[in-house]
Amino acid sequence: MDREHALRRIAELSREIERHNHLYYVEAAPVISDRDFDHLLKELEELEARFPDLADPNSPTKRVGGDITKSFPVVPHRYPMLSLSNSYSREEVAEFVARVEKAVGSTTYVMELKYDGVAISLTYADGQLVRGVTRGDGEKGEEITANIRTIRAIPLKLRGHDWPKEMEVRGEVVFTRKQFDKLNEQRRRDGEEPYANPRNTAAGTLKLQDSAEVARRGLDNFIYGLQSDHLPSRSHYQNVLKAHEWGFRTPDPQRRFIGQAQDLEGIMAFIDHWDTHRHQLEMDIDGVVVKVDDLRVQEELGLTAKSPRWAIAFKFQAEQALTVLRNVIFQVGRTGAVTPVAELEPVLLAGTTVKRASLFNADQVARLDLHIGDTVRVEKAGEIIPQVVGVELKERPAHAHRVHFPHDCPECGTPLIRLEGEAQHYCPNEHLCPPQITRRIEHFVARKAMDIEGLGGETVEELFRAGLVRNVADLYDLTEAQLLGLGKGWGEKSARQVVEGVAASRAIPFEQVLFALGIRHVGETVAKRIARAVGDIDTLMGMGQEELERIDVVGPVIAESIVDFFAAPGNRAVLERLRSAGLQFAVLERKGPASDKLAGKSIVVSGVFRNFSRDGIKETIEAHGGKVSGSISRKTSFVVAGDDMGPAKRAKAEELGVPVIDEDEFTRMIGE
Ligand code: IVH
Repeated sequence: MDREHALRRIAELSREIERHNHLYYVEAAPVISDRDFDHLLKELEELEARFPDLADPNSPTKRVGGDITKSFPVVPHRYPMLSLSNSYSREEVAEFVARVEKAVGSTTYVMELKYDGVAISLTYADGQLVRGVTRGDGEKGEEITANIRTIRAIPLKLRGHDWPKEMEVRGEVVFTRKQFDKLNEQRRRDGEEPYANPRNTAAGTLKLQDSAEVARRGLDNFIYGLQSDHLPSRSHYQNVLKAHEWGFRTPDPQRRFIGQAQDLEGIMAFIDHWDTHRHQLEMDIDGVVVKVDDLRVQEELGLTAKSPRWAIAFKFQAEQALTVLRNVIFQVGRTGAVTPVAELEPVLLAGTTVKRASLFNADQVARLDLHIGDTVRVEKAGEIIPQVVGVELKERPAHAHRVHFPHDCPECGTPLIRLEGEAQHYCPNEHLCPPQITRRIEHFVARKAMDIEGLGGETVEELFRAGLVRNVADLYDLTEAQLLGLGKGWGEKSARQVVEGVAASRAIPFEQVLFALGIRHVGETVAKRIARAVGDIDTLMGMGQEELERIDVVGPVIAESIVDFFAAPGNRAVLERLRSAGLQFAVLERKGPASDKLAGKSIVVSGVFRNFSRDGIKETIEAHGGKVSGSISRKTSFVVAGDDMGPAKRAKAEELGVPVIDEDEFTRMIGE
């Protein structure tokens, strides 16, 4: 194909693909199959590969990502991104309406959903998406265009012709619940911790450096505002709806996703509707936003220091529900920690049926003074796991039994212990208590530990029940024949996968092996640091409490736990078998420090970073001789603050006079 021909075909394909994207993601009315769509996309990709200079930065092929952004440049917003003042009651909304009317007389209001996600600003020039920027501090934000392009609900080129030449479109990037669940399912399959809530996950995803990963995760976008000197209408409502013609997904008035009202009653009707119906939506909202519709009236009302006088957010209460406490069970974890869990009469809460809720520890049980049969209040506040927050004492049935934290392990009967200063109770019978054994094995095989494929929680329990695996060393004696002998559910393929997975784990580095052993208080990072500090397991085994405490991450609690672990004859026997099985018991190469620029510094990291993952920044600090510490104290040399460092931490640093530096300053400091 010649160039000219290719140019025409590329334009044609781009238009066609974007038309189908729009039909699928904005109109929810696809007209071709996914297969046919992929076919078109593939043809375009091939053409662009053959004629790279003809590829457009806003080509629909860019939506699958691939660009790696090393750092996100900070750019100013042409129009500041303001925040809203919040209200929580009808009275506060009434005061808002009264204030507006006192200033400008009666006027029209627009009500919108308050999407619970991450604010972004999209700049369009001549109908082309040129930039996607985070809110940042409201004045300037980070440019994350490559990631934004992967969001299919965002048009890369505007449709029609009557859009302003220059325009900023404001909206919220979210995960729909369905997409979020899908992502977490995948993570569970990969042995990774599921994410706790869609909002934070959306924020983290937008800051990923690999846009292909962003594309895979499937973010979504809802728009709620336009900024330009040449908007088509003086009505905010009309402008938002007009954006539909330009290719944006806009809220449907028929479904009450946006509404108009003349007074408080109309506003409250919209709010009340969504307070009760919000769980039917495909994404989380945390309230309703009320805005004055007329842009000239908005201007007249003006701004306060931080937020406009022409808008207010009504925030919904954290979802609560009343239900009956049927029972409290006490779960025993890998380390023997005993966690009380409430079993509830199933109740619908925030869109899901809740049957269990966390009670954390004995103190919480005592504080709530729970009785079986109590009517309890459960709450879901942003997080996925609900909690019991209170008891309706008036509803308590006569002669109800108080819940007592057990003295003995509910699984093996051993008396529980509670270490001083800790909230948890423990079952000390670590070698014989069944759930401790199986969870330890589950921990051992997990991805961040020995990374053994084909073994999950259920399989481990099955192997334990069948008597094939009673400790982690037994894994290395498993044979395909034994697994096939288990019968149902086992085939040659799955049996081979497990045996091969176990064999492959012999190559897992010592740092991970040490973590996999599941020594109490020795998490992933601590294990890594200890492994690098001591070099091999024999040295570690020979170290006493004091010697251990000389390792920078090791305090008395960790040191004691390590000494106890290696002193137990049962553990020693297992370790010797693991050694014979050929596991890595020494670090392979000792990486020397990159520099000693941070030697002697104790550094706290907080927030999300552009150029580093959380682990990455910690490793970099260590590579330059610094020490990472978890909490701010007078000994802290400085804090490296990423985005959204919590205000409490910031205040603490200020109070103790600890300097806070940002990522760029940190990068300059280490000279990278
Ligand atoms: S309007 C000046 N409308 O809430 C008004 N914001 O604190 C600027 N949000 O950062 C915002 N849904 O991320 C507006 N329908 C909506 C919204 C909305 C969610 C977020 C937005 C903003 C925060 C306000």
